[in-house]
Amino acid sequence: MKVLVTGGIGYIGSHTCVELLNQGHEVVIVDNLYNAKIEVLSYIKKITNKEVTFYEVDVCDYDAMKEIFAKESIDSIIHFAGYKAVGESVSKPVEYYTNNIYSTLILTRLMKEYDCKKFVFSSSATVYGDPDVVPIVETAKLGPTTNPYGTSKLMLEKILTDIQAANPDWTIILLRYFNPIGGHSSGLLGEDPKGIPNNLMPYIMKVANKDLACLGVFGDDYNTPDGTGVRDYIHVVDLGVGHVKALENIANDGVHIYNLGTGIGYSVLDVINTFEKVNGVPVPYKIQPRRAGDIAECYADSSKALEDLGWQATKTLEDMCKDAWNYVLSQK
Ligand code: UFG
Repeated sequence: MKVLVTGGIGYIGSHTCVELLNQGHEVVIVDNLYNAKIEVLSYIKKITNKEVTFYEVDVCDYDAMKEIFAKESIDSIIHFAGYKAVGESVSKPVEYYTNNIYSTLILTRLMKEYDCKKFVFSSSATVYGDPDVVPIVETAKLGPTTNPYGTSKLMLEKILTDIQAANPDWTIILLRYFNPIGGHSSGLLGEDPKGIPNNLMPYIMKVANKDLACLGVFGDDYNTPDGTGVRDYIHVVDLGVGHVKALENIANDGVHIYNLGTGIGYSVLDVINTFEKVNGVPVPYKIQPRRAGDIAECYADSSKALEDLGWQATKTLEDMCKDAWNYVLSQK
């Protein structure tokens, strides 16, 4: 299958490209390098020993995208490209809504023009808002979301559902990711956020590497076993495999929704302790007030993905912590 991967040089995109290539698919990457480094392209090739086609293009550039569709005979699309920083989305809602929604609309317009019928969308567990019950099943209530980033994901799920209704022979797959962390076992691919990180694992890595002095733990008074927030951390390689399984195993038309998580909730302190133990490096931390918009607990019921796709996360929190740190070490 020839797969167009937007944002294919980014964190989740690059790991997914490796898994697609490993399964013998042809990969066409479109990335504007806004939040990605071009070297990643050569690492994808080095890991897989396969070629990929790359276009440095912004998905919002309709004319440039049209040229790619005209040239490439795309069978299906995995759309990762987008703005993803929760905090930044609060101060830049126009940019977030414009970029995330417009890029998706352009892709669906080109799907119609070039008879491409399969689309996989990067959604997020954030669409569930503060869940009433954990583990979360796909049929759980949606929203309210607490920031423009999350709202753009929820809106896009609805937009794509409407577009599928108007194009009944299309297959739209909405993958709701939980908390992706870790990196490729080669140490060549991993998460490398710009500036001071917002997310837990990238912050831990900066503290472990002594780039930052101390991790702030946002709240220890939640109704969880140790009082800190509980999340479903999933290894990014497992997540990449989930995309390939979804693409390969969903043949019928319609809108198909899957949670991609491990089904296990770990607290912030669990992650810190595991990271310190498996890597033998200290991660000094200090308890701070709760972060606005955070919820106590969020973890997936991923049994639908197992039943329908034959997909299940296989890697442990230990693997995730080891591979995250291995990436930092290999950058030195
Ligand atoms: N945390 C800290 N200190 C930090 C950063 C995070 O204690 O410096 C805590 C948070 O309070 C939370 C946990 O670590 O309890 C995880 O926080 P992250 O920022 O890593 O992740 P979130 O669960 O807040 O958000 C992530 C993605 C979003 C996505 C959401 C889906 O960043 O894009 O999961 O549930 F929408």
